[in-house]
Amino acid sequence: MSEQVNKPLSVVVLAAGRGTRMKSKLAKVMHSLGGKPLLTHVLEQAKALNPSQIIVVYGHEGKALQAAFSDKNVAWIEQPNRQGTGDAVAKALPLIADNQRVLILYGDVPLIQHATLKRLMTKTVSDLGVLTAITGNPAGLGRIVRDEKGQILRIVEEKDANPAEKAITEINTGIFFANAKPLKKWVAKLTNDNAQHEYYLTDIVQFAVEEKVQVVTEYPQDRFEIFGINDKFQLAQLERHYQWLQAQTLLQAGVSMADPGRFDLRGTLEVGRDVFIDVNVVFEGKNHLGDDCQIGSNCVLINCELADGVKVLANSYLEGAIIGKGARIGPFARLRSGTQLAENTHIGNFVEIKNSTIGEGSKVNHLSYIGDTLMGCDVNIGAGTITCNYDGAHKHQTIIEDEVHIGSDTQLIAPLRIGKGATIGAGGTVSKDVPAYQLTLTHQLRPRSIDWQRPIKQNKPVKDDK
Ligand code: UD1
Ligand code: CA
Repeated sequence: MSEQVNKPLSVVVLAAGRGTRMKSKLAKVMHSLGGKPLLTHVLEQAKALNPSQIIVVYGHEGKALQAAFSDKNVAWIEQPNRQGTGDAVAKALPLIADNQRVLILYGDVPLIQHATLKRLMTKTVSDLGVLTAITGNPAGLGRIVRDEKGQILRIVEEKDANPAEKAITEINTGIFFANAKPLKKWVAKLTNDNAQHEYYLTDIVQFAVEEKVQVVTEYPQDRFEIFGINDKFQLAQLERHYQWLQAQTLLQAGVSMADPGRFDLRGTLEVGRDVFIDVNVVFEGKNHLGDDCQIGSNCVLINCELADGVKVLANSYLEGAIIGKGARIGPFARLRSGTQLAENTHIGNFVEIKNSTIGEGSKVNHLSYIGDTLMGCDVNIGAGTITCNYDGAHKHQTIIEDEVHIGSDTQLIAPLRIGKGATIGAGGTVSKDVPAYQLTLTHQLRPRSIDWQRPIKQNKPVKDDK
């Protein structure tokens, strides 16, 4: 047995299925489960076994697949004509040395667990092991035929099965573990003399039994581990199960959730103590929530870092933001990438912040756009204040020093600096630097027009004026 374990391992992932029932231009294994492609889930499990190689057998959409997984250290083999699982494995075998062990996985069965694969591999002290399962609904699957002593004899596909065989509830999951040398011999013997005129990998069980090989079987722990995806309904079912598992893990880690059934994590989430997550919150990418954070309903958080005690109120959309202790955001706030909020900042409803640093205790409470801004501490921004950071070609910075108060409905035309402690009266346009500690009134009682040339982006094609 120890000799087996020490042999190098090749993992073969079958992924040449057309996925017609997905009714999509995307290859089946590219569809997302929990924010990452089905094939990524399988490749992660494969990698966790420390194989000497991973071989993916793909179909016609190979280029797109290889491009999507270019960072992964896998070999790609094309199966030009989809002639069955036996034919698919045959395509990979030339890459595998005789002294190797071979684990066969499916690219569209994403939730197979490490522990299950380990159990199958450890138990298989002979040349062949099969992962099987008992199911209430075996329709469409290969049935496991056993003798009176319970020893596996062969696998019969549904389309080739007689009524007695169809009544068998033990099915083939499709996951096999074998020694390369005998596997090569058996695969070479396969024929397509069956109802589907396909080369069935499953026929190797019968060949092994004929050679008096003790074929080992093992079961998964959870039925979803072997759940294959063929259509969008199955994908949605598995997504809910996957999210349920993730929610369970977080609840066990001490997170409170209004409803674990209305929670979506597409990536990773690190949490402190006493975190509360209301309904319909979506987390994407890498997020971190410190102690005592509260996330209101219908929020989206993408790659955000929240320090302790941050409150995000309902319907807020946060992307790439770093948020200091005790900050309060929303409801209906949007933080875009490059946003850094210091401690105890308040960002209110219908406020958008982009590429800006907001100093400690500063407040932007209503209907504002703050972009490319460096804001000091204890600043108060009145409702409807807009940083006009874009002149049509370039972005410019606005600097707002500590303790500035800006009246409502003010446009700040960047580049601009507002000195410390300045107050700006409501309803105006500020187009030049404002001195510290003064009250500045800017609103124009009478509008006027002047000649002006809009700056031109370099290399921008000149448009005909007509
Ligand atoms: C196969 C098994 C069946 C088992 C079932 C589990 C055979 C003959 N039958 O059924 O016993 O219960 O899986 O789901 O093995 N694939 C290729 N190339 C091919 C054919 C398939 O790469 O030519 C891949 C598919 O992408 C998929 C996997 O193999 O990932 C299984 O193919 P699928 O058609 O879903 O399964 P069946 O052959 O019907
Ligand atoms: Ca299938």
